[in-house]
Amino acid sequence: MTPERSASNRPDPGTPVFYGRRHGRRLRRQPAENLEWGLDHYGIDADTVECAAALPPQALFNDEPDREDRPVFLEIGFGGGEHLAARAEESPGACFIGAEPFMNGVAGLCGHIRQRGLTNIRIWPEDVRLFLPLLPDACLDGAFILFPDPWPKFRHRERRILQPVMIDQLARLIRPGGELLLASDDATAKTWLLQSMLGTDDFAWQARRPADWRQPPPGWPGTRYMAKAEKAGRRSAWFLYRRQDRQNP
Ligand SMILES: C[S@@+](CC[C@H](N)C(=O)[O-])C[C@H]1O[C@@H](n2cnc3c(N)ncnc32)[C@H](O)[C@@H]1O
Repeated sequence: MTPERSASNRPDPGTPVFYGRRHGRRLRRQPAENLEWGLDHYGIDADTVECAAALPPQALFNDEPDREDRPVFLEIGFGGGEHLAARAEESPGACFIGAEPFMNGVAGLCGHIRQRGLTNIRIWPEDVRLFLPLLPDACLDGAFILFPDPWPKFRHRERRILQPVMIDQLARLIRPGGELLLASDDATAKTWLLQSMLGTDDFAWQARRPADWRQPPPGWPGTRYMAKAEKAGRRSAWFLYRRQDRQNP
């Protein structure tokens, strides 16, 4: 699915513009097969979500009817899917949704799903900003935005994924007490993430000492992008936020 286009073939005003890549190198036979298989079995399409908008997202995991009270986590920009697959494998009782418009990355996740026999992942193979408005309030237990594209030039700052409107959406979707984990290796992005989160009272940063952002959270499986950053000598930081509960601060 691509953003809605008008007769003039320009995106409708209000449709977010995605500046990243949708395709990389031509996929070889096995990844291409994995992609087709994965989207066929676990892909979410817009019609399904619109029809299910009033339902909890567990309804997307409809092959297992007892899933209504299972925790749901969202990873935004999962890249090759290493982190999402590892989390799903470690918590088979939870539901995981991943959003990623880069098809070579989606093929990577589909490969992990297939190899490990995971059934608790659903894939939105598109811009996450088209998906979030379709979800009901307080339906997520947590969300991850790991190593987002830094867009280091100031004139490109509006392309960075964490914008006030995104923070408001995440505040609407993550239940009180739920968590938002941000991570980056890039100096501009780290500052941007922290500064952006300073602009909201809906989330509280959980760090008490430097080790809390210098060390990954327990069970951290790594990501492909982080591995590249470390090889290049860049240090990663993890910023964990908790959704504030207005009734019980
Ligand atoms: C630098 S990569 C990091 C990938 C992965 N999280 C990792 O650590 O290896 C950032 C990813 O975010 C994805 N992305 C960028 N904008 C997005 C959007 N609006 N919705 C979903 N994913 C997005 C990109 O396609 C890219 O794969």
